[in-house]
Amino acid sequence: MNALISLVRMWLTRTKRPFYFSNTYEADLNYKHTEKLGLYVHIPFCRSLCAFCPYCKVIYDKELVSQYVEALLQEIEMVGKMQAREQKSKDLKGQNPKGSKAAYDTFAKKKVTSLYFGGGTPALLADDIERIIHKIKEYFVIQEGIGLELHPLDVTVPKLLKLKAAGITKISIGIQSFQTRFLELLGRKEMDYDVMFRALQEVSFETVSMDFIFALPGQTAKMLEKDIETAFSNHANHVALYPFIDFTYTSHSFRKIRNTDKKNLLYEIVAYMEQKGYVRDSIWTFSKDGQANYSSMTRVNFLGFGCSATTLLKNRFKINTFGVEEYIARIKDEKLPTALTLRYTLRQRMVYYLFWSFYSMEVHAEEFEEFFSKSLGRAYGLELFFARIAGLLTKEGQTYRMTTKGSYYYHYFENYYTLSYIDQMWSVMRKDPFPEKLIIK
Ligand SMILES: C[S@@+](CC[C@H](N)C(=O)[O-])C[C@H]1O[C@@H](n2cnc3c(N)ncnc32)[C@H](O)[C@@H]1O
Ligand code: SF4
Repeated sequence: MNALISLVRMWLTRTKRPFYFSNTYEADLNYKHTEKLGLYVHIPFCRSLCAFCPYCKVIYDKELVSQYVEALLQEIEMVGKMQAREQKSKDLKGQNPKGSKAAYDTFAKKKVTSLYFGGGTPALLADDIERIIHKIKEYFVIQEGIGLELHPLDVTVPKLLKLKAAGITKISIGIQSFQTRFLELLGRKEMDYDVMFRALQEVSFETVSMDFIFALPGQTAKMLEKDIETAFSNHANHVALYPFIDFTYTSHSFRKIRNTDKKNLLYEIVAYMEQKGYVRDSIWTFSKDGQANYSSMTRVNFLGFGCSATTLLKNRFKINTFGVEEYIARIKDEKLPTALTLRYTLRQRMVYYLFWSFYSMEVHAEEFEEFFSKSLGRAYGLELFFARIAGLLTKEGQTYRMTTKGSYYYHYFENYYTLSYIDQMWSVMRKDPFPEKLIIK
């Protein structure tokens, strides 16, 4: 299977060249003309560490948190000023060569779509979120709201009020399951959800999303439906159903379910959601009324801040170091905390663009053309035609939409991509904060 998928990659990227990540990078990020730019801030702290979770995270430590926040503010400033510097020299025509703070205040801030805080558990830093948002707003104008992840234990009235006052408009709560047996499987403690539901009733947000993990052994569609209804009848207006992904460096005490069982479960759940009139807004997320959304993933370009955060621009992908202390040290040295950078070939970028765009279930040909100045039909017309014949996609006007069958195969591919690309990269980065290079074939 690995050989087959590598062949597909070579075919789609029209090259045998593997993905080559190196530790060389430029001190400047050129994003001034980047459209549809999103922002992501990684907060790696958790109360305790879940064995199944692959993300970059460490146990909460007050002293480390305070150093991390200072470093984060500095990274935002360094990156923010890169755009400002260019803009300033244009605006002021060299009248202020020293680049004082007053000069930066006069530049046009960069418009961005959204800002998401992910983790870890960013809600643990509720007291610092306002400062971080304030720093971001010195350089960026956020157009579509600010999202933040919480553990169910964070969902209390005082914390929600604090987050709302700081400017958070969307929240995502990592429920995993409302059922004791699955929480036990995942090594999580059960809790009193009434506290959480009452807090959500008292403090409202534009989006209240709840995360669940599915494809756990013994889990049926009926059980998932019950969890979804519990969420939607207790102030959630959005749910994310993530298939369990078994990273090589995480652990769990249960056996994985068979692919055919996973496929059946996915089909049953999608049929249930459709019948209830819930709207699928991305491959794993559904909104209750078609209005709410929470999508830290489906962005064409983004800037990432904090340890392990990734940045994706027109021709470049970069990932920050995974080491929290190394991140802080690098920033103190006034250097970007970039660990690895990949320079895309045009075809590699096109494939990456299509992969992430299909995460939202659809791709608009005119947006592809706007991004690459090349028609989607010319670049991948044949492949898209065969995908339609195979029943994976439909086409209406200029829009390609994934079918349920397509979404299952997308998942299959995503699972493979996650396990062979992301798992490999994160495994290396967890061991070595600044690896020399990484080649993914
Ligand atoms: C950063 S956590 C969410 C916030 C908070 N830390 C929590 O756990 O409640 C992001 C989400 O990733 C999902 N997740 C973590 N490990 C996973 C895995 N191995 N497979 C699939 N989803 C996973 C969980 O649903 C989790 O809620
Ligand atoms: S699932 Fe959430 S709480 Fe658990 S380790 Fe991962 S980020 Fe932390």
